[in-house]
Amino acid sequence: MNGNGRNVGPDEDPLWYKDAILYELHVRAFLDSNADGMGDFRGLAQKLDYLQDLGVTALWLLPFSPSPWRDDGYDISDYTDVHPAYGTLRDFERFLNEAHRRGLRVITEIVVNHTSDQHPWFQRARRSPPGSRWRDFYVWSDRPDKYKDARIIFKDFETSNWAWDPVANAYYWHRFYSHQPDLNFDSPYVRQAVKEIADFWLEMGVDGFRLDAIPYLYEREGTNCENLPETHQYLRELRQYIDAKHPGRMLLAEANQWPEDAIAYFGAGDECNMAFHFPLMPRLFMAIRMEDRFPILEIMEQTPAIPPNCQWAIFLRNHDELTLEMVTDDERDYMYRVYAHDRQMRINLGIRRRLAPLLGNDRRKIELMNALLFSMPGTPVIYYGDEIGMGDNIYLGDRNGVRTPMQWSADRNAGFSRANPQKLYLPIIIDPAYHYEAINVEGQQNNPHSLLWWMKHLIEQRKQFKALGRGTLEFLRPSNRKVLAFFRRYEDEILLVVANLSRFPQHVELDLGAVNGMTPVELFGRAEFPPIGDQCWPISIGTYGYFSFAL
Ligand code: GLC
Repeated sequence: MNGNGRNVGPDEDPLWYKDAILYELHVRAFLDSNADGMGDFRGLAQKLDYLQDLGVTALWLLPFSPSPWRDDGYDISDYTDVHPAYGTLRDFERFLNEAHRRGLRVITEIVVNHTSDQHPWFQRARRSPPGSRWRDFYVWSDRPDKYKDARIIFKDFETSNWAWDPVANAYYWHRFYSHQPDLNFDSPYVRQAVKEIADFWLEMGVDGFRLDAIPYLYEREGTNCENLPETHQYLRELRQYIDAKHPGRMLLAEANQWPEDAIAYFGAGDECNMAFHFPLMPRLFMAIRMEDRFPILEIMEQTPAIPPNCQWAIFLRNHDELTLEMVTDDERDYMYRVYAHDRQMRINLGIRRRLAPLLGNDRRKIELMNALLFSMPGTPVIYYGDEIGMGDNIYLGDRNGVRTPMQWSADRNAGFSRANPQKLYLPIIIDPAYHYEAINVEGQQNNPHSLLWWMKHLIEQRKQFKALGRGTLEFLRPSNRKVLAFFRRYEDEILLVVANLSRFPQHVELDLGAVNGMTPVELFGRAEFPPIGDQCWPISIGTYGYFSFAL
């Protein structure tokens, strides 16, 4: 325990996030304890044993504060409380303590680029005189033609980043939905308010924050209003403030940017501790579909080194669409063609599907993609339900198709809730191929050959080797491009990873000169291999095969 009553287990390493395995979940989707059709903190607390058994080390919770829920909670109307449907602050604290007692860290969200238009700050701003402190909490204009170079993010829903407010008699700026007015970070009161929100949750004991939509905090004429120097300046200030008061916590940037812009969020190790690697994700999907390692090599080679105390967060899927902002136009066309042939699967600049359906429910492909996720540089993030291969529902609106209730068992409502099935916040998946009666935790717990057990094994393996979280990456370049092979090294650990991206078995000769004479110990895979000699190492790998060796 430390001074804040936090007990995060034996591991007090300030760089804990480098060895972490994150699990992203929505309280609403996990377990409903009071039969109102919606998950809540008491329900989530009951499932901590499951998460501990799965082996993940940190939970990332989607926003759970009071909200009119027009953007699934990313439209916050009170930053320092819990939405009554999810319970009380006391329930949250109990959950947090229970998680910490099991050595599980908890990361929440700071969504401060914007608020809900229902937030009292906005209600006060629109009624306050122009130029006043309260009015200036938001970004106003008499004309909707300022900052024309800023792109529209929710292209399917919005036509402008300005919206007219008849109460204020002025336009207000919004980067997302028009009911989400952007806060004005030029206001010192806004900057101070954000620090107070951070203090509130950190004092309670949360281990870190995902910083939602962080590139868009400031607006400046003549720029695209992303990644501005002012944003980085504020992040340095926020980091200093948090480090001084609450050491050992973690800031994770949601910056959907090219690698060179994304690394700017690490600063010189003095901004965010972590940032998502957005461009890698679609390239993993491209590589496995094209049966060619090129997209992965290309993006990793364009990824600059990061400060030693920083870490990428890598992922296959999350609660949003599989975003295709960080690919070229040709690549996007390709991704749509092969992964979203039905128009219904597309939204904004992306694809609203879960992992298993994207991969045609092909168990070998699902395993390979997860294995890559767990062996590329960075901390892996698992999206809830993907550990059992849950399906999606592309006929639900917005991104709801990937946000349906967790499937615990073949019981009513998949064991998620005792409510009338019609009362659930979203319907359970009943698509014949992914029906909850077949795809659920209980069924998979009872079958040692299930995806769930395979994932547990993968997670367990990852924990044995620091090189996976912290090591360098060195690609091998065998002539067969369908094979991806690389070393991960950290101190005296050397791991060799070999993956067949093809649907046919492949033969490959690996030049392992650098580790000549070593004996490979197979960690994960399916076959036996000859020892490493001074010549090229010839191996054959089955369809979508994956091996990792410790040398
Ligand atoms: C982030 C979230 C997304 C949300 C948006 C606006 O991109 O991931 O779900 O809609 O911010 O808050």
